[in-house]
Amino acid sequence: MPDLTALTLEEKASLLSGASFWVTKPIDEAGIPAMTLTDGPHGVRLQSGDADHLGIHASVPATCFPPAVAVGSSWDPEVAEKVGAAVGAEARALGVTVLLGPGINIKRSPLCGRNFEYYSEDPLLSGVLGAAHVRGQQGAGVGASVKHFAANNQESDRMRVSADVDERTLREIYLPAFERVVTEARPATVMCSYNKINDVYSSENRWLLTDLLRGEWGFEGAVVSDWGAVSDRVAALAAGLDLEMPGTGGRTDQEIVEAVRSGQLPESVVDDAVRRVVALADHVPAEAGASDVDAHHELARTLATESAVLLKNDGAVLPLDGVQTIAVIGEFAENPRIQGGGSSHINATRTDAALDAMRALAEERGQRIEYAPGFAIDGSGDADQLRAAGVQVAGSADVTVIFAGLGEKEESEGFDRVTLDLPAAQVELIRAVAAVAPKTVVVLSNGGVVSLEGWHDEVDAILEGFLLGQAGGSAIADLLFGVANPSGHLAETIPLRLQDTPSYLNFPGEQGHVRYGEGVMVGYRHYETVDARVRYPFGHGLSYTSFVTSDLSVEVTGDDTATVTVTVTNTGTRAGKHVIQVYVASQAGPVRRPARELRAFRKLELEPGESCTATLQLDRRGFAYWDVELGGWIVAPGEYRIQVAKDAATVLAEQSVTLTGDVIVPVLSFASTVGEWFAHPIAGPALMQGMTAAMTEEQKEQAAEQQEQLRMVESMPMKQFMGFLGGAIPVEALEQLIEASKAAQTA
Ligand code: BGC
Repeated sequence: MPDLTALTLEEKASLLSGASFWVTKPIDEAGIPAMTLTDGPHGVRLQSGDADHLGIHASVPATCFPPAVAVGSSWDPEVAEKVGAAVGAEARALGVTVLLGPGINIKRSPLCGRNFEYYSEDPLLSGVLGAAHVRGQQGAGVGASVKHFAANNQESDRMRVSADVDERTLREIYLPAFERVVTEARPATVMCSYNKINDVYSSENRWLLTDLLRGEWGFEGAVVSDWGAVSDRVAALAAGLDLEMPGTGGRTDQEIVEAVRSGQLPESVVDDAVRRVVALADHVPAEAGASDVDAHHELARTLATESAVLLKNDGAVLPLDGVQTIAVIGEFAENPRIQGGGSSHINATRTDAALDAMRALAEERGQRIEYAPGFAIDGSGDADQLRAAGVQVAGSADVTVIFAGLGEKEESEGFDRVTLDLPAAQVELIRAVAAVAPKTVVVLSNGGVVSLEGWHDEVDAILEGFLLGQAGGSAIADLLFGVANPSGHLAETIPLRLQDTPSYLNFPGEQGHVRYGEGVMVGYRHYETVDARVRYPFGHGLSYTSFVTSDLSVEVTGDDTATVTVTVTNTGTRAGKHVIQVYVASQAGPVRRPARELRAFRKLELEPGESCTATLQLDRRGFAYWDVELGGWIVAPGEYRIQVAKDAATVLAEQSVTLTGDVIVPVLSFASTVGEWFAHPIAGPALMQGMTAAMTEEQKEQAAEQQEQLRMVESMPMKQFMGFLGGAIPVEALEQLIEASKAAQTA
């Protein structure tokens, strides 16, 4: 660490914002280097010419690995770690200090334009994958910037909107992924989001950036603003935001200096921030290098095969064995969509088209491929003619594979979608082809989920590729021909209708506010709790082989932890990967809980006939809810069902356990209800004894008969109830019991 004591206040303030769009200011005499922070997350976007944060101007070529939507569907931390390590290596070779990613926001609505850059609707899956990415990237020597902290779940009005979220929902849904990444993987930086949370800009939210992030989670790195997220520089610095990006030409540095000089801001706040920013220099690469473009392309291909999700495969139409002619239709087959638009847009070193890769594999196997575009991605041309030509090709083939999806103008950072539908011309094409083709397979390319309604039942198979990076085309071909076996699972639900989605009535908000009215019931938590039908549940994914789950056993290992042991056998004829999904279901405690919640998972590779017995740990948090009255995580004593499931809607085996949990002795007051007083472990028995002591046997019998009536006053606060008792219970006695309840809670 360079000696910071010799720096002037002006020099220190200058270190707290960028010199330019991507680079911080050096102070050579103090040995503080300039540091480059650039996007991320699934490749390096390093601009050498004009700069922008929307992916508009060119950047140097880099490998475009599968974006987070794909990595999320892999359900495999190893995939995330490999992406992190590879982008880290490329970033280091290009002299980058911090690569801005991963993005781990929760997919609250399928309409969010940036869902392609996020992992999942579930915080455990997002957190485990995010932590693995950071481990990989920082293992390669490049700092990570986990983003966007926090509650940035939409693009509409993203720079101003207030996400109005209650405390329990924040703690249980929107914060745990950040908590896991920060505590387990120690990212060099956290990027604060643009939006407000409950009316306070994230960049000025002291509770978020200091009390929670540093105080509770022990974060020691630097907080960086999202690009342009600072509204009031001095308030942001006081709240815990260290580095403002991009630079403001010195304007906000001067504001910091003036705030210190006027006594508004203690200089120690500046010193702490400077220390944290300068510490990032540990990640400055010693020298630029090179990375292996071919090896990274091959890696991108392998990782993409782990990520695509086989949604449907009726009559085992896939893989494409034993067919003579294959019709390939859809412009995406020759012009693949490999990534989303915006700040993460990578200038890929090369791009594989599925059509080329399929032709190569078909040739090896003596199969014939006929191609027709079927539609234009940009909607140009004569849709009827394009469709008719596609239908004609399909009519003469054994199997038709249609490549459908969303074009770049349909979804991107910066705006949200308003529909889940595929473009109408594509839906018409799918229906027309399915009507004539003997077998129809649909391959999808889309960043956010699309509706499958109107055509799902008419096709035989659907392979959801999402966006698979630059080698996605080859990966799709490998999966279609059975060179690779699909093993992706949905990291988000595919609903039947947009109107069914839990945030439907509150997305994207209005008049500057978006109310997270569905609370903790996000994604499958909602659908399973209200028992709503969906097209495909969270966790769904097929394989070319089959798996059987057996011998579930759950052992409680303490007051609130358990070990789950389960055996999985590959009962098919191909090697394949299976994801063990462990959910916990409970209604214990005073809050409304989702029907089930994912609490552990593991992806296993099994040869045909092979069995594996896996052990998964459920920690305290796996059973806990956030208690707003007590301000903490509580495990309620009671019954918990441990469910091993194929997906969020299909339980394969379950076992109940009873946990001792936390014994909470509530603190009583005169505002506590009669019911609460009588249910209290200390006050309840004392009250009963006091009330019955002076009664005759006859009065006791009468009182027992009137138990039913007591229910009517159960919800009455003690203060009011006392009025009806006419002094039967002395105030002093109640005061003593209040004191006893306080003493018992702190004990
Ligand atoms: C995005 C960030 C990105 C930054 C720099 C912002 O608009 O929200 O994710 O890292 O720009 O490009």
